[in-house]
Formats: sequence, C-alpha cells, structure tokens
Amino acid sequence: MEKLFISHTGYEVKEAQILRTVRLTEKDKLFELALVGGEILDFEPGQFLEVSLVGVGEAPISLCSSPTQRKSFELCVRAVGRLTNALHRLEPGDIVGIRGPFGVGFPVTKLMGHDLLLIAGGIGLAPLRSLINYVMDNRRDFGRVHVLFGCKDPQNLLFRDEIEVWQRRMDVGFQCTVDQADPDWKGNVGLVTSLIPGVDINPRETFAVMVGPPVMYRFVIAELLKKGIPESQIILSLERHMKCGLGKCGHCQIHDIYCCQDGPVFFYERIKTLKGAI
Ligand SMILES: Cc1cc2nc3c(=O)[nH]c(=O)nc-3n(C[C@H](O)[C@H](O)[C@H](O)COP(=O)(O)OP(=O)(O)OC[C@H]3O[C@@H](n4cnc5c(N)ncnc54)[C@H](O)[C@@H]3O)c2cc1C
Ligand code: FES
Repeated sequence: MEKLFISHTGYEVKEAQILRTVRLTEKDKLFELALVGGEILDFEPGQFLEVSLVGVGEAPISLCSSPTQRKSFELCVRAVGRLTNALHRLEPGDIVGIRGPFGVGFPVTKLMGHDLLLIAGGIGLAPLRSLINYVMDNRRDFGRVHVLFGCKDPQNLLFRDEIEVWQRRMDVGFQCTVDQADPDWKGNVGLVTSLIPGVDINPRETFAVMVGPPVMYRFVIAELLKKGIPESQIILSLERHMKCGLGKCGHCQIHDIYCCQDGPVFFYERIKTLKGAI
C-alpha cells in the first residue's frame, strides 16, 4: 500500500470534526472523525495520529478503523489523563487537531496470501481492529484467519457488537477470554496465552500479529515459538511515551530505534535483542 501523508513536514496540524461518539466501556469511547474540507486521510493499519486540543495538549492515538472506510476514520480513546479526558467531554460537531499519520503500520502486503493469527490484549484491540477489519474487507487476499482477544473482565470488553459479528463469521476463527469472569460471562476464563495451544494452525504458513500491554508479549511469544511459528513471522506493536512522532525528541527511543518512526510495528527478529524493548 503506498504511503500518502496529509502533511509533508509532520508539523502541520489539520482540523478534524467529530461526526459521532460511541461509549464502549466506562473508560473507552469511539470517535468517528472526518477532515474538515473533505480531504481523505490515507493511512495503513497500525499507524497513529497525534491528536491535539488547543490549550490542553497532544497525545498519540492509533487509528482503529480500516483504511477501506474512506470518508471517515475512527479512534478509540481511553480516558487516562489530561488530553484523553478532555476528548471524552467533546461532542459531535466539535473540532480536534491532528498530525500524521505517523509510523510504520502492519506489513499488509507481506501478510497477503498467508494465514494469520491476530492476538489482542485489552485496548490493543483498538489498533488491531484496523487490521482485522482490513482483512475482513479483503478476505480473499488472506488464508485462514484466527483472532484471539484477551480482556481483564467483561466490563472492559471493547467493540462488543463487532465481536459478535466476527464470532458469527464462518471464515474467521474468533475466540475471546477474560482474566476474571462475572456471573453473566459464558465464555472462556484465563489469560490470552491459554487460547494459543488449542488453535489449529500451520505454523510455517502463519504470520502472528500481536498488540497489547508489554507484559503480555514475552508470554505470547513463548507460546507462538512453542507452536512452531518462526521468529521472522512474529510481528508486534510497541507502545512508548511519544511526544513529537517525528524522530526528534527522543522520548520513544530504544537504543538505535525510534518507536514513532521505525515502529510502532516491528518484526520480533528486529527487536528481540534490544534490552528493554519487550
Ligand atoms: C503509538 C501509540 C498509540 C496509542 N494509541 C492509543 C489509543 O488508540 N487509544 C488510547 O486511549 N491511548 C493510546 N495511546 C496511549 C496514549 O497516548 C496515552 O495514554 C497518553 O498519555 C494519553 O494522554 P493524556 O494527556 O490523556 O494523559 P497524560 O495526562 O499524559 O497521563 C496519562 C498517564 O500516563 C502517564 N504519563 C504520561 N506521560 C508520561 C511520560 N512521559 N512518562 C511517564 N509517564 C507518563 C501519566 O502519569 C498518567 O498516568 C497510544 C500511545 C502510543 C505511543
Ligand atoms: S516521539 Fe519524539 S522521537 Fe519519537
């Protein structure tokens, strides 16, 4: 997929209007936005925007919709601090600033023709949803597809309606698990790693892609390697405190890499020997 930047310098802030908000959980909201002036935002699944509000600040937020959705784009925001709480107070019609898209996304072209094992933990489902929906919209370009989603508890389940749609599809194996169930939960209980041994895959044909909290990665990677998936076919997205998104401020640096520019998506092979990367 050719990369098209809406801003050549990366410093330019564009205005985007909120079209719709949907409450997903107590702390998470989905925002559907469109660029003011009707310009289309071109991006790859896995890339992120720097989202700003005048007088409040700026924060990196992943694009969570698929680029196959052309007229608008979506962000899933967890209210944790200054900018994200201020975003949660906005309504349809309000304007936010955006820079980007930034970073290297999932290697979609390389994944084509292969089987996929897509694994999300918690809010990691937001960036992975961009890839999941891209794959669903171009289903014939991919082999067998499995999606595993692990979440703390049923109250924190993101994209419930969409999960039901994915679960009903015959051409996707979708499994969801929670660390702690409540009395209404009928599904699996346990960490996302507990689902991996039971997934029927051909490891040589499969690319595994994961997005989740850093603590999840080491355990998931160990299970994938046990399953026989080669290191060269394991892909993950690293989250670091980012500021500029431009490889200038150094906030996201790990040794010789800048997560904002060289990532956030990396092949495991590239980062496995970098101390502190995972
Ligand atoms: C590539 C990328 C993609 C992301 N995608 C999403 C997404 O899709 N949705 C989403 O909700 N979030 C996402 N995040 C996380 C989000 O950017 C952070 O939660 C951000 O800090 C929120 O900004 P804030 O102003 O609301 O919070 P802040 O007021 O900055 O505070 C948030 C929390 O982080 C701590 N913190 C902030 N900055 C630092 C720092 N430099 N060092 C140590 N601790 C710090 C604060 O103490 C506080 O506990 C993403 C982050 C990255 C790097
Ligand atoms: S966020 Fe500034 S260098 Fe990466």
